[in-house]
Amino acid sequence: MTSFSSIRSLLSAPCPGGEVALRGWVYRTRSSGRIVFAVLRDSTGIIQVTIKKGNLPDDQFEAAAAASIESSVEVMGTMHQDERAPGGYEVRVSSLRVIGTALPFPITEYQSEELLLDNRHLWIRSREQTAVMKVKATLLAGAREWLEENEFVEVTPPIFTQNACEGGVTLFKLRYFDRDAFLSQSAQMYLESLIFSLERVYSITPSFRAEKSRTSRHLTEYWHMELEEAWVDNEGNMRIQEELVSAMVAKVLRERREELELLDRDPRALEAVRPPFKRVPYSKIIDLLREKGFDIDFGSDLGAAEERAITEDERTPVFVTDFPKECKAFYMKENEEDARTYKCADLLAPHGFGEVIGGSERETDLGKMLRRMEELGIPQEPYRWYLDLRRFGSVPHSGFGLGVERIVKWVCGLDHIRDAIPYPRTVARVYP
Ligand code: 4AD
Ligand code: MG
Repeated sequence: MTSFSSIRSLLSAPCPGGEVALRGWVYRTRSSGRIVFAVLRDSTGIIQVTIKKGNLPDDQFEAAAAASIESSVEVMGTMHQDERAPGGYEVRVSSLRVIGTALPFPITEYQSEELLLDNRHLWIRSREQTAVMKVKATLLAGAREWLEENEFVEVTPPIFTQNACEGGVTLFKLRYFDRDAFLSQSAQMYLESLIFSLERVYSITPSFRAEKSRTSRHLTEYWHMELEEAWVDNEGNMRIQEELVSAMVAKVLRERREELELLDRDPRALEAVRPPFKRVPYSKIIDLLREKGFDIDFGSDLGAAEERAITEDERTPVFVTDFPKECKAFYMKENEEDARTYKCADLLAPHGFGEVIGGSERETDLGKMLRRMEELGIPQEPYRWYLDLRRFGSVPHSGFGLGVERIVKWVCGLDHIRDAIPYPRTVARVYP
């Protein structure tokens, strides 16, 4: 049986004159009569192959000359140095087999964003998309490594729920047999219930938000990495976040340089990402924004424009702490020093990228929580089980949610969050 080499292994330890076998897809091809120059792509890279009439059976040469872009092929041949070829080597082909021919590929060099989205199932083969998916996988692997080392237990919360964790406005409602239910916005409340046995837990799940606005940082379905920690206050929560995020970025810098380069992302922009991150109280942020000319008062939430202004000159992520209550959800712990605010923090990515994490210490005082719910008109009944957590051995605890695609967008330097996920779901799109 033929043993096929990956393109990466061929180019990283080339043996000139050596016999090789590889398989992949036609990435580019041009022909000048008796010779076909093709570039093949596999999951690891691209390599030039030269197919010369006479070096292989005629029917195979004809098949090579006819092979369209994205056809899948197997080739055998010998490696030769060639300065002009990507990677400095080419394969001179002695045999070739087309495995699956491709129809004319609908995506050519200049395409509208709409056409690319309609053909997402084909566009995700592009080298940029491939690089983004590899960086994303490495970020997730980096997170899981760090979480394992720090004794967090991965748990699997439900997606069907009857609780609005982050408020009613962005809930996706659905019919659950004879009842109403929602798609989960956040696993937080379920994670809170799991700290009583496991103390430090995390989950990586899809979260759903019926975001009607079209922005470059909102999806209706995104991947949410959430942590919940017993015996940890808001400061401890921030320490966990800065270490986790730094470990994720460090793994990408160790293992995905090539992909960052392909994405035109300067790794130096990420090398400064090391703990501790700056902590700035919301009230200072408001002063700063007013100095920058924003017409904003204590109590207003920070939008994309504000977050851009806060972080455009920063080189590392920044925590904005102690938001006023009207900006945040009822489950957060009230500040002892200033009852107008919560013990919470959002982590904003530098260079204008903005919010990547939302987190807080949780309210454990049942009376305060009930009063807050009443003020906000939140019914108790659906939260009966959640409130119970404050009745059976409650402990101080904190947690946060990290938007995986938000982190990918920042680390890869993407303009739009849709390119951080293979099949983006937005208000305008659920196909393909
Ligand atoms: O700030 P959020 O709404 O916080 C929560 O859901 C908490 N219950 C999490 C927790 O404490 N366990 O969402 C958390 C993060 C945001 O910081 C952002 O990165 C991301 O989720 N996010 C989105 N990402 C993509 N598209 C959307 N529509 C998003 N909404 C939030
Ligand atoms: Mg938030």
